[in-house]
Amino acid sequence: MACTRFVTLKAIHGTWTHSQLLSPRIHTSGIVRAFSALKSPPSTAVFYEKHGPPDTVTKVIELPPVPVGANDVCVKMLAAPINPSDINRIEGVYPVRPPLPTVAGYEGVGEVHSIGSAVQGLSPGDLVMASPPSPGTWQTHVVKDKDFWHKIDRDTPVEYAATVTINPLTALRMIEDYVDLKSGDAIVQNGATSMVGQCVIQLAKLRGIHTINIIRDRPGSDDAKEKLKKLGADVVFTESQLDVKNVKGFLDNLPEPALGFNCVGGNAASLVLKFLRQGGTMVTYGGMAKKPVTVSTSSFIFKELSLKGFWLQKWISSDRKEECREMIDYLLGLIREGKLKYDMELAPFSEFHTALDKALGKLGSQPKQVIKF
Ligand SMILES: NC(=O)c1ccc[n+]([C@@H]2O[C@H](COP(=O)([O-])OP(=O)(O)OC[C@H]3O[C@@H](n4cnc5c(N)ncnc54)[C@H](OP(=O)(O)O)[C@@H]3O)[C@@H](O)[C@H]2O)c1
Repeated sequence: MACTRFVTLKAIHGTWTHSQLLSPRIHTSGIVRAFSALKSPPSTAVFYEKHGPPDTVTKVIELPPVPVGANDVCVKMLAAPINPSDINRIEGVYPVRPPLPTVAGYEGVGEVHSIGSAVQGLSPGDLVMASPPSPGTWQTHVVKDKDFWHKIDRDTPVEYAATVTINPLTALRMIEDYVDLKSGDAIVQNGATSMVGQCVIQLAKLRGIHTINIIRDRPGSDDAKEKLKKLGADVVFTESQLDVKNVKGFLDNLPEPALGFNCVGGNAASLVLKFLRQGGTMVTYGGMAKKPVTVSTSSFIFKELSLKGFWLQKWISSDRKEECREMIDYLLGLIREGKLKYDMELAPFSEFHTALDKALGKLGSQPKQVIKF
């Protein structure tokens, strides 16, 4: 179980009130092992007490040491990404949110700092990732039950270990779980520059599956197209290029796709639907444009399209910890072999707020921000 941390120190940006000083502040479900002799180091953490715009409600504060119980592992965090779902949790619009106040972040990687007396199979210095992912990874030291940590190969690049669970695993499950695709088939997707999208391109290619990719119109879209083609994309179009009556004319020799992925919503989702073949399936997993999916009546009646939704958190929580770790190891293997890669920018923790602004889109289109502790 995760350990409860009591906030009793002065915030780096602000001072705690008397009642804040007296009350337990961070709830991650679990047991407080108050009498353990072993303690974690103090932790510097991205913390929020209320939901709202992430650039205004988050503070970097120092949290005092917490006990490391017999079954606990204290991990010195090395890296953790800023994913869109982290932003949504802080905003308060994600369907499942940790109770407030809390430390932000959901996935990440670190090095074992110390272990409780009953812990076996992990030693100080091991590289471990939060698996299954859980709240509170944006801090320098995390104490959680040993079952939360998955030991991985020391030679895994930390930025990949930090990011492999949420996005690459989503891409893998969506390719495997909805349509029985064979080598030579095709997938169409929007949001192709996203981390999920980049993984879809490469994981599909490894299976001999073609990808038709749609990206938004923005400065740098030509470079983005070239990057995606280097990853293995068969074709890449901006939304405006597809503003024609019959998008199928762009398929050339590619087969009509039976499966489509929708990361964006709005017009970009309609374009995915237009490419799908008779009886095809569109899986929605993101809503980056914050616009609804609109489907024509004829798509249902005459084209017999199916619409599905995928949510990794639900998938993982249905008793799949071991299965999940096997897939993580498979993906990390591809990464170490150079068969799976994606764009990221490592941001020093001291520049957290700049990284957050980039992740919020305030500085234009940016690669995935990964905090380096
Ligand atoms: N359902 C699930 O279980 C699950 C799991 C993982 C991820 N997701 C969702 O998948 C989506 C992508 O996540 P990610 O981490 O892979 O993304 P990411 O790497 O952070 O990239 C963000 C993507 O969104 C695009 N984008 C940003 N603002 C946009 C806007 N206003 N309109 C259209 N596109 C916009 C970006 O395009 P540019 O390159 O043009 O900037 C980029 O492709 C998110 O919605 C995330 O929540 C869902």
